[in-house]
Amino acid sequence: MNNIKRYLVTSALPYANGPIHIGHLAGVYVPSDIYTRYLRMKGLDVISVCGSDEHGVPITLKARKEGVTPQEIVDRYHELNKKAFADFGIAFDIYSRTSGKVHYETASEFFRKLYDDGEFTEKTSEQYYDEEAGCFLADRYIMGTCPHCGNENAYGDQCEKCGTSLSPNDLINPHSTVSGSKPVLRETLHWYLPLDKYEPWLKKWILEDHKEWKANVYGQCKSWLDQGLHPRAVSRDLDWGVPVPVEGANGKVLYVWFDAPIGYISATKELTPDWEKYWKDEETKMVHFIGKDNIVFHCIIFPSMLKAEGSFILPENVPANEFLNLENDKISTSRNWAVWLHEYLEDFPGKQDVLRYALCASAPETKDNDFTWKDFQARNNNELVAILGNFVNRTLILTGNYYEGKIPEPGTTTPGDDAVLKEIGKIKDNVETSLESYRFREALKEAMNLARLGNKYLADEEPWKVVKTDPERVKTIMNVALQITANLTIICEPFLPFSMEKLRGWININELDWNKAGSTVLLPAGHVINKPGLLFEKIEDEEITRQTEKLLATKKANDTAGSKATPSKDPITFDDFSKIDIRTATILEAEKVPKTTKLLKLKIDTGIDVRTIVSGIAEYYEPADIIGRQISIVANLEPRKIKGIDSQGMILMAEDRDGKLVMVTPAQNVGNGSMIK
Ligand code: MF3
Ligand code: ZN
Repeated sequence: MNNIKRYLVTSALPYANGPIHIGHLAGVYVPSDIYTRYLRMKGLDVISVCGSDEHGVPITLKARKEGVTPQEIVDRYHELNKKAFADFGIAFDIYSRTSGKVHYETASEFFRKLYDDGEFTEKTSEQYYDEEAGCFLADRYIMGTCPHCGNENAYGDQCEKCGTSLSPNDLINPHSTVSGSKPVLRETLHWYLPLDKYEPWLKKWILEDHKEWKANVYGQCKSWLDQGLHPRAVSRDLDWGVPVPVEGANGKVLYVWFDAPIGYISATKELTPDWEKYWKDEETKMVHFIGKDNIVFHCIIFPSMLKAEGSFILPENVPANEFLNLENDKISTSRNWAVWLHEYLEDFPGKQDVLRYALCASAPETKDNDFTWKDFQARNNNELVAILGNFVNRTLILTGNYYEGKIPEPGTTTPGDDAVLKEIGKIKDNVETSLESYRFREALKEAMNLARLGNKYLADEEPWKVVKTDPERVKTIMNVALQITANLTIICEPFLPFSMEKLRGWININELDWNKAGSTVLLPAGHVINKPGLLFEKIEDEEITRQTEKLLATKKANDTAGSKATPSKDPITFDDFSKIDIRTATILEAEKVPKTTKLLKLKIDTGIDVRTIVSGIAEYYEPADIIGRQISIVANLEPRKIKGIDSQGMILMAEDRDGKLVMVTPAQNVGNGSMIK
């Protein structure tokens, strides 16, 4: 883009069905906030919009579970999340919501325009219907086995195990998550956006014109486009959402992924009557900050919608991040495996910047990354305290001691001083380059290099020694150190807004113009600074232990909850039991069944014969590891053909709380064919 007149920054609208955690912050909101603050400081015309995504099945499911209305759920989390963002300095220009009036109007109009222009195809198809609950089963209202990986807990819209996006009709053995019943097929009418029609255009727009997009984003788009796009339904049979604005469409609402991104438009409308210039002028640069699970919606579906509508601009970039894990485990709301923002603030009041820093420093920019409390502590103690805090503290204390807080007049600078002063400008340029290419970790590291530079300068020049012999020289040294400090307040501001505000108060300036960074006269001689406090404090081991213990308690609670044993089955007679031939056997050979992910073909010595059993354990055991292992089998199960192989019997497996299968092996080796009774 050459002529950029203004920026429109969007951050994924979080679902209003749970609180915000560190994964959200690291993946989407810290980067978008840093980017927006930087642009604002450059004096550019930028707005940052966000809000709650208040439709979708997860919200209605939660409401059902709690016995409240969906509106009550979204009201609760909208307020909580809005506050959490504000508390962490995530400075949106507006935090809107998709249950608002403006949004309903905007989303309906958008749909209606496409409808009137004949951009949709209409199709009646058979979809799953829950006769007990009396509703169609869209998206997460239905679960079943994934046809790709065999995961038995795949949702109607996606298998979370293999990541494949699904439609309810793809599921094997579907069941309703509303009533648990087996659904029946019923005819229903829906509107489809013919994505296939946009495929050639998308291929050019993304694969040719946006080769600069991040590799993870470009790669996902390419794989979608390579597989070929299909028409996608944009309506649902649900009672929570924006009603389909077409006559006779009673009981039908817009698909949540159709209405949610339009939420960016509604939010802008709410923010300013001048909203159209942000959405309809080619000289606006729109950037979508999102997590990797949102890529297809922001790079393929929403752009196709915008293109079909015809009057809107398209995103210039979509810097999606990967996921953040917590202490080596996937962050999960349902398992309470997360650090929630509101809880963090209770435990670390006033330390928003420490979390912002730690999350930016290890943001999952190119691959999934892990947040650990140890790393958080190290980032604080070894970087914020030891580098940034230490430099600022020494500089301000010495200025107080030597000059009662008055900035000294510098004398002639040495070549060493000049080199240091020049370096400030270089660091500013580097931070800019990194920020503009969405490399926030690198940008932060570079910003910290300014504090490193300051520390090294003080260590080299040793003003506390020189002051005894050459106080005039010390004036120059301290002036240089103070200019570095003033530059820090600008360059670190996008990352550490709370601390830099404090620091600006101490040095008594209010300069927020990014373009002034690099200047060596930000603090003129004679300017008087205030008494400083401590910028960062050390975090002690005990505080970290408290957090890791909290997580351990969560793990334990999950274990107990998960190990609630299945209720007993109906009684059987001893005769029934003795009909089953359960015996020990040894695995002689094991190999993967070709073209499957779950199956192993085992050759087994049962004491009476050597036979073949096909078993669904390939995800849990490597063939090489189980050869020679003694196991238990049901030997008299009727043979079954599995993938064309005769399977003669079944291996006994215990299922752990995660659904993982574990072999049942005798406590000591007993001969093959020993009866289990
Ligand atoms: N609510 C979605 C999520 O959390 C994101 C919606 S982004 C929007 O994954 F563009 F659709 F708004
Ligand atoms: Zn799957």
